[in-house]
Amino acid sequence: MNINGVADGLSMNYYLFSCPMAEVIVKNTVANALQSDPTLAAALLRMHFHDCFVQGCDASILIDSTKDNVAEKDSPANLSLRGYDIIDDVKEQLEKQCPGVVSCADILAMAARDAVFFAGGPLYDIPKGREDGSISRIMDTINLPSPMLNSSELIRMFGQRGFTAQEMVALSGAHTLGMAKCSSFKSRLSEFDSTHIWDPSLDTQFARTLSKTCSAGDNAEQTLDSTRNTFDNDYFNALQRKAGVLFSDQTLFVSERTRGLVNGYAMNQAMFFFDFQRAVIKMGLLDIKEGSKGEVRHNCHKFN
Ligand code: HEM
Repeated sequence: MNINGVADGLSMNYYLFSCPMAEVIVKNTVANALQSDPTLAAALLRMHFHDCFVQGCDASILIDSTKDNVAEKDSPANLSLRGYDIIDDVKEQLEKQCPGVVSCADILAMAARDAVFFAGGPLYDIPKGREDGSISRIMDTINLPSPMLNSSELIRMFGQRGFTAQEMVALSGAHTLGMAKCSSFKSRLSEFDSTHIWDPSLDTQFARTLSKTCSAGDNAEQTLDSTRNTFDNDYFNALQRKAGVLFSDQTLFVSERTRGLVNGYAMNQAMFFFDFQRAVIKMGLLDIKEGSKGEVRHNCHKFN
C-alpha cells in the first residue's frame, strides 16, 4: 500500500500506454447498454460489489462452473445478477484492441463506476491494475451479507472488511438503484416473529404494497426506492418513511447507531454522493491481486 491507501501496482492511468482506448470502450459500451435497458446500471453496480466481497475484486464472479467446480455465480445469492453480456462485450472489443492487457476485474470496476454516473450519480476516477484471480467457489459466497442482518451485524460484517459504519451506510445507498425479488423480503410479511405478523419497522401502507408485489410470486420484483434507475438519495428518504424494502435497509433507520447517517444523507444528497464515491473506490480495492498473484484472463468466464 502507498500513502493513499492504494495498492502499489495500481494507478489512475494504468492503461494510458498499454491500452489507451480502454476507458472509452467501457464508457461507450455501458452507455449503449443502459440506453436500451436502464435497469442494467443497478446490475453492474451489484456485480462489482459481489465480486469484491468474495475473494476480493478479481472477477471471480465471472467464472463459469465446470464439472469439477461450482463457481460463485451459481450461488443462490448470485442467481439474480445480470449484465454479464456487457462485460463480455467490452472484453471482446478490448481483446481486439490490446490482447491480454485489460483485466476482467478492472472492466467490472470501470463498468460499475460508469453505470453510477450514467444513472445520475457522482463522477469519480478509480485506480486500475487489478488482476484476475484463480479461485471461484460457491462456498465463499457465504461472505455476502444476508438481507436479514440487522444494523449491528452489518456494522460488524463490513467492519471485518475495514469499513466504518458510515461507509457501510453510504454503500447501502447503492440500493437507490434497482429492485429486489419478493423472496428477498417476504419473511418480513408473515410470521415475522413470535409477537408480530409483519415486521414492525415497516410502514403499514408500505407493507401492503410489498404484500401485493408478493402476491405475484417469489420472483415478483419490487423497486428498492421510487426512482429505480436514478442514482439519488431517495432511498434514504424512503427509510425515513419506513419504506425500506429489505430488512437490512430499514434496520439502518431503526438503529440509533446508524439513524443519524440515514437522516444526514436524506437531507444532503451531495454528502451522500461524496461519501458513496469514497466508499465505493475503497470497496474496489478489496484484496486485489497484482504482480504475480493474478493474471489477465483472455475470456472472463474461464481461467487462462
Ligand atoms: C449492506 C448489505 C447489503 C445487503 C444485505 C444487500 C442485499 C441485497 C439484496 C437481497 C438485493 C435484492 C436481490 C434480489 O432479490 O434479486 C440487493 C440488490 C441490489 N444491491 Fe445490495 N445488498 C447490500 C449492499 C449492497 C452494496 C454495498 C451494493 C453496491 C455498492 C449493493 C448493490 C445492489 C444493487 C444495485 C441492487 C439492485 C440489483 C438489480 O436491480 O438488479 N448492495 N441487495
